[in-house]
Amino acid sequence: MNILITGGAGFVCSHLADTLFDKKHDLILLDNLLTGNKKNVEHLLNHKNVKFIKHDVQDHIEISEEIDFIFHFASAASPIAYQENPVNTLKAGSIGTINTLGLAKVKNADYLLASTSEIYGDPEISPQSEDYWGNVNPNGERSMYDEAKRFAEAATATYSRTYNLQTKIVRIFNTYGPRMQLNDGRVVTNFIVQALNGKDITIYGDGSQTRSFSYVQDTVNGIVALMESEHNEVFNIGNPIEITINELASKIIELTNSNSKLINKDLPQDDPKQRKPDISKAKTLLNWEPKVRLEDGLTKTIDWVSSQL
Ligand SMILES: NC(=O)c1ccc[n+]([C@@H]2O[C@H](COP(=O)([O-])OP(=O)(O)OC[C@H]3O[C@@H](n4cnc5c(N)ncnc54)[C@H](O)[C@@H]3O)[C@@H](O)[C@H]2O)c1
Repeated sequence: MNILITGGAGFVCSHLADTLFDKKHDLILLDNLLTGNKKNVEHLLNHKNVKFIKHDVQDHIEISEEIDFIFHFASAASPIAYQENPVNTLKAGSIGTINTLGLAKVKNADYLLASTSEIYGDPEISPQSEDYWGNVNPNGERSMYDEAKRFAEAATATYSRTYNLQTKIVRIFNTYGPRMQLNDGRVVTNFIVQALNGKDITIYGDGSQTRSFSYVQDTVNGIVALMESEHNEVFNIGNPIEITINELASKIIELTNSNSKLINKDLPQDDPKQRKPDISKAKTLLNWEPKVRLEDGLTKTIDWVSSQL
């Protein structure tokens, strides 16, 4: 297939591109390099079936090639990155989604939207299944991201119903692994960098809040399973094993053999207390579940971060 990936030079999409390349698809990677890096996909770019286009999805997208499938992943994704680029984030999720859906309509392409567990906000139930509508602050400090993603879901569903497009939505939960940016404040890289440098490990709040972390290849395998399935629906993709932030910090200190101490800082606004995906739908319908143990994924990530420092 000819596949367009927006956000193609980013962390998750660079791994997605590797997997789709191995499956012999032709790829167009479109990215404005706001938070991504061409280095993430450099190894693919000398192949004639992979093309890179520097472009912002908020601007009209013109592509001459036939396109069979579009992945719309372009968006700043970490709280620091989207709060530093609030309007671009809002537009990537809203105008960018309309632009890429319009392209899918013109090219008669199938479509997969990257949504997020953040559309559940600070959830009142745990784990979160796809039929939970969420508890989101519509104008809070994260709203440029989570409300734009909620709009993106609405736009995808509307185009699908109105124009009979084949669309899929993946709600990705916390994903980590090599090629994450080191300075965008995501907890796994923050802790690893601090531990490797022997600095204090910063815990926001008392550290009892929980997260569940999915290794990037597991997440990508789930996304590809959805792409290859006949299901044009919403799926949670993530790892349901929950861990407190304090436990994560201790694990990273152990794996890096670090002397770092834990220090506590105030919890940011709208930081959810708990996030845990219910993945029974993906397990049943996509025959997918995460396979990589946290210790193994963290070890690979620590090796990669060390190579970057
Ligand atoms: N990593 C996670 O844990 C996670 C969790 C939930 C959802 N997601 C979603 O997955 C997608 C990828 O996230 P990631 O973690 O790889 O982040 P990332 O920042 O590494 O990747 C995003 C990519 O999109 C590009 N981009 C941003 N705004 C753009 C714009 N306006 N036009 C064109 N390109 C633009 C960036 O340059 C970057 O290469 C995002 O849509 C994000 O919301 C990720």
